[in-house]
Amino acid sequence: MIIPINIEAKDSKKYNIYIQELQELKFNTKVAIVTNPTVAKFHLQRALSVIKAPLVEVIEVPDGEEYKNIDTVLDILDKLFESKFDRKSTLIALGGGVIGDMTGFTASMYQRGINFVQMPTTLLAQVDASVGGKTGVNNKYGKNLIGAFYQPKAVHIDPVFLDTLPPREFSAGLAEVIKMAVMFDREFYNFLKEADFENRDDIVKIIAKSVTLKANVVNQDEKESGIRAVLNYGHTFGHVVENLTNYTTYLHGEAVAIGIVMANELALNLGLLSQEEADDIKKLLIKSNLPTNFEIKDVEGFYEHFFLDKKSSNGEIAFILPNGKIGTNIIKRDIPKDTIIKVLKKFEGS
Ligand SMILES: NC(=O)c1ccc[n+]([C@@H]2O[C@H](COP(=O)([O-])OP(=O)(O)OC[C@H]3O[C@@H](n4cnc5c(N)ncnc54)[C@H](O)[C@@H]3O)[C@@H](O)[C@H]2O)c1
Ligand SMILES: [Zn+2]
Repeated sequence: MIIPINIEAKDSKKYNIYIQELQELKFNTKVAIVTNPTVAKFHLQRALSVIKAPLVEVIEVPDGEEYKNIDTVLDILDKLFESKFDRKSTLIALGGGVIGDMTGFTASMYQRGINFVQMPTTLLAQVDASVGGKTGVNNKYGKNLIGAFYQPKAVHIDPVFLDTLPPREFSAGLAEVIKMAVMFDREFYNFLKEADFENRDDIVKIIAKSVTLKANVVNQDEKESGIRAVLNYGHTFGHVVENLTNYTTYLHGEAVAIGIVMANELALNLGLLSQEEADDIKKLLIKSNLPTNFEIKDVEGFYEHFFLDKKSSNGEIAFILPNGKIGTNIIKRDIPKDTIIKVLKKFEGS
């Protein structure tokens, strides 16, 4: 299956997303595959076997979000200079979102920008991170604060990669899928309720639909000035949960699942979602083996954390909510503090 992307920017950018087992990829320039030891162990041979190029270099970086920083990017750049990569060379990101974000960012900088290709290997990267051209790294001030919008030349999504993915990582990817279904597509949401997450055909349908939904949003709003913000459903609360637990307790998608439950509670309070639908979404999260509970110890402290997020730097918090029912969305920026506190109190623990 091929999903075309056509971003309507001044310098119109077009590329394809391929969802299929990897096929031969021909390059007439030098290619470097950026990956990590975990992914390389399982999938590097598979990738190497399809890439045909005059020179294929493998650049391994350590595995982990803690290495998603400028130092690792500088290491990759050094390797490219050592191997005399030129402006026509191509970088291939073979890995999850961490590898994808760093490789894309490196490609955006090397000699003012070289081609890059995404080969995402986690569900999260396949349905979300590899689509849309956000690239970047973390620093001590926060996550993804240094980066660039830089679109790949192609995205090759091979569902076979997922066979080796730990179940928790798989579920974390499903959280982003559920997010998109609740925001944009009731029919897809119903499909997810019935789907068998261990069935290859169902997984391919899930990837294809998610990519289409995300691509549609990105095509309309590459730089997140409007509708792209809707992809942050569950994230306003989820980021606080990640932050309060020092990014160690939950995977990002798990925190998003909790954030979705919290956002739904807020929507319920504002008359934007029925109790029945909020419960239904929670059931789907549980079916996906995602957490749905979080005990807030300090409600005021939780509220204060919203303002640490880069997306609320002007003192306004954007809440992304269903707009009356599943499959619709609204961005709310004017919710009184009292209302939010009331919602947070619902999650208050001892
Ligand atoms: N650019 C975007 O639009 C965007 C969107 C969402 C998330 N992100 C970023 O993506 C990152 C999270 O991505 P992620 O969830 O893929 O995490 P990740 O890249 O850290 O991968 C998770 C773990 O799975 C391993 N792994 C990857 N593929 C595997 C496979 N096929 N088999 C076995 N193990 C495998 C990885 O080595 C890692 O240990 C975050 O840094 C986040 O900021 C970016
Ligand atoms: Zn996310």
